[in-house]
Amino acid sequence: AIERTFSIIKPDATERNLTGAVNAVIEKAGLRVVAQKRIQMTRGQAETFYAVHKARPFFGELVDFMTSGPVVVQVLEGEGAILKYRDVMGATDPSKAAEGTIRKLYAKSIGENSVHGSDAPETAVIEIAQFFAGNEIVG
Ligand code: CMP
Repeated sequence: AIERTFSIIKPDATERNLTGAVNAVIEKAGLRVVAQKRIQMTRGQAETFYAVHKARPFFGELVDFMTSGPVVVQVLEGEGAILKYRDVMGATDPSKAAEGTIRKLYAKSIGENSVHGSDAPETAVIEIAQFFAGNEIVG
């Protein structure tokens, strides 16, 4: 089925001017960027977005990192977009990511790992709604 997933190009990637390079991998995989904007996340936005990780030891570090510079939030659309984008991103830990994946190509570490993608249909809906109004998504 045609799905939508939520993506973030993280501060380590925007800082190195990798927005276009990441989008090239996304588009080459057959995913379409149907919404996109560059924002500076507030601490509140990052805390809400990563609320599920609140109890983790790296939570503070994660919020610090995600608010350390601009991010590009996106909605990606395509056949099986949620799983497909997770494949395209590669493993969370770049040292374990497969060849050709975004994280293998560009991620610096497990924390500064260049991209985020939704892990399931329910989270995709919630994550998209946190950052985009319906009329900002043009399929
Ligand atoms: P993401 O897909 O955005 O969702 C949760 C994030 O937490 C994950 O990517 C990583 O960037 C981050 N993360 C996961 N494990 C660690 C860790 N051990 N140390 C720091 N950050 C982590």
